Amino acid sequence: MSDQSLFPVPPGFAGSKTIDAAAYERLYRRSVEEPDAFWAEQGKIVDWIKPFTKVKNTQFTGDVSIKWFEDGVLNASANCIDRHLATRGDQTAIIWEGDDPAQSRHITYRELHEQVSKLANVLKARGVKKGDRVTIYLPMIPEAAFAMLACARLGAIHSVVFGGFSPDSLVGRIQDASSTVLITADEGVRGGRKVPLKANADVALKSCPEVSTVLVVRRTGGQIAWDASRDVWYHEALATASADCPPEPMGAEDPLFILYTSGSTGKPKGVLHTTGGYLVYAALTHREIFDYRDGEVYWCTADVGWVTGHSYILYGPLANGATTLMFEGVPNYPDAARFWQVVDKHKVSIFYTAPTAIRALMREGLEPLERTSRQSLRLLGSVGEPINPEAWLWYHEHVGAGRCPIVDTWWQTETGGILISPLPGAISTKPGSATKPFFGVKPVIVDAEGKELTGATEGNLCIADSWPGQMRTIFRDHPRFVETYFSMYPARYFTGDGCRRDEDGYYWITGRVDDVINVAGHRLGTAEIESALVAHEMVAEAAVVGYPHDVKGQGIYAYVTLMTGVEPTEELRKELVAWVRREIGPIASPDLIQWAPGLPKTRSGKIMRRILRKIAANEQGSLGDTSTLADPAVVDGLIENRMNR
Ligand code: WTA
Repeated sequence: MSDQSLFPVPPGFAGSKTIDAAAYERLYRRSVEEPDAFWAEQGKIVDWIKPFTKVKNTQFTGDVSIKWFEDGVLNASANCIDRHLATRGDQTAIIWEGDDPAQSRHITYRELHEQVSKLANVLKARGVKKGDRVTIYLPMIPEAAFAMLACARLGAIHSVVFGGFSPDSLVGRIQDASSTVLITADEGVRGGRKVPLKANADVALKSCPEVSTVLVVRRTGGQIAWDASRDVWYHEALATASADCPPEPMGAEDPLFILYTSGSTGKPKGVLHTTGGYLVYAALTHREIFDYRDGEVYWCTADVGWVTGHSYILYGPLANGATTLMFEGVPNYPDAARFWQVVDKHKVSIFYTAPTAIRALMREGLEPLERTSRQSLRLLGSVGEPINPEAWLWYHEHVGAGRCPIVDTWWQTETGGILISPLPGAISTKPGSATKPFFGVKPVIVDAEGKELTGATEGNLCIADSWPGQMRTIFRDHPRFVETYFSMYPARYFTGDGCRRDEDGYYWITGRVDDVINVAGHRLGTAEIESALVAHEMVAEAAVVGYPHDVKGQGIYAYVTLMTGVEPTEELRKELVAWVRREIGPIASPDLIQWAPGLPKTRSGKIMRRILRKIAANEQGSLGDTSTLADPAVVDGLIENRMNR
């Protein structure tokens, strides 16, 4: 796809509310030239209990310190609920669409207020107070939203763990956050199948004695074990709780949540976001990038266990008084028309999903689309990985019938909200490009030495200055925060992504340049999968890389060296796949395992992943220099036995 194919702003996007091209240029310039003045104005998108007088106080050097609106006082839950009661108490806040197409539920802002207040009182009665951590391990049910907002109401810090993670992954996150309360459900339901959340939690809690309360939502009524000393039914606890719970006044820099995410090394990092800047940024980006208009139904298909669910199912839309749709199921259940049926059923105007879902549905052909109208759609969004132009064009032509702009939104758990994306009324799009920076965002492309590259170029993507939604630290590990994001290219935030800038100043994200892989829009550290593999008694060593995968974007390719004397068998291969599923979760299951009698290493013992990536991608013709290897012959053996042919 060449850079020439430019999709202009559709005429339907002109209008008084929408920011047009000239306004974008003007506002962008002001946002980076006068950040204090710009953000002082934008900060008013949320309600402050005590208005801020200071705006930006950030420093990317030395110990790195990031503060926004620091003397302001607010509450995120009050902003997402209470402030809408007078004007839209009876408007639907959340539409819940069940896995079973016969199940859906509308929750008004008034009901949301009642549910969240009651739950907050239950948590309070269990000793939860400002600053405490609460772990949430729930499926995509409204209680997940209630739980996050109830924490925010009390000033407790929520840590949501994706329901697809294993007991072991849950243990790591509960222990790192030292949570004493866990909120879970008996079982989840996805694609007609049950997910044993409570059973997983029971296993996990054997290693977390400090958890004294487990609130259990009854979703399926399935059989579960019960420990009366700590387990409490959610519905029973709420039945007697008061619906009056005043929101806790929070400093702008008081933590709102922790969300664990994978990095290139070590265990997952507890990314910490605070209240004021995060909420301002989530609300503003949601309003402008999705061009949200009052009364519309907005649907983001992410799971609340990921940052996309935090910012763009929950906080952004609700801060804007939107109607946000929460979907329990999967794109292909009962069949491949499900997304489009939900769009028609609830008259969705704005639809936001991941390239992997688009590619999977593209394979099903046009028949599922022809069964639905999708007339309500006005805007489409993409997130999670680079979108290939074929998928982009299919999304545009077939899903949106050519009339809906696509916002390809680039961002990260660390950034809190979208940093690079078209504004739909202002910026012509190009298939595969995230286009231009949002207000206040200063992307810079640097070479390996950190030299800033100008004009049309390609290199590593950094951000030169802070924006309000930026993470503040890694929970309890500020040195790791500084080391991970600010040491490679001093005084700049390093994203870990590669990026190209074209002649028109459009940004094209090329993918991770570190040891993070992106599998079906899920972010995984290869080091995590390797350490799961080597924890198996028959594995001596393992190296994991990503390789191109038609649907998932990247697949997981593992090179495994077995202990001396262990026979490589098909059975063992299956066992190792199951082992990783158990250790981390199904999303981390290796797609391909290659037995590797040896791994290509430098003379100092460092595994040359560049070579392993090439072999996994079936690009052994362009291995590059292998002369620095301790034993170059290893490579020939690996090529000979490669799995991806
Ligand atoms: C990738 C998800 C290209 C990128 C919000 C980033 C993207 C990582 C895009 C963050 C996009 C996300 N185009 N790549 N539109 N959006 N990515 O933390 O590699 O789960 O660094 O946050 O996903 O993944 P995370």
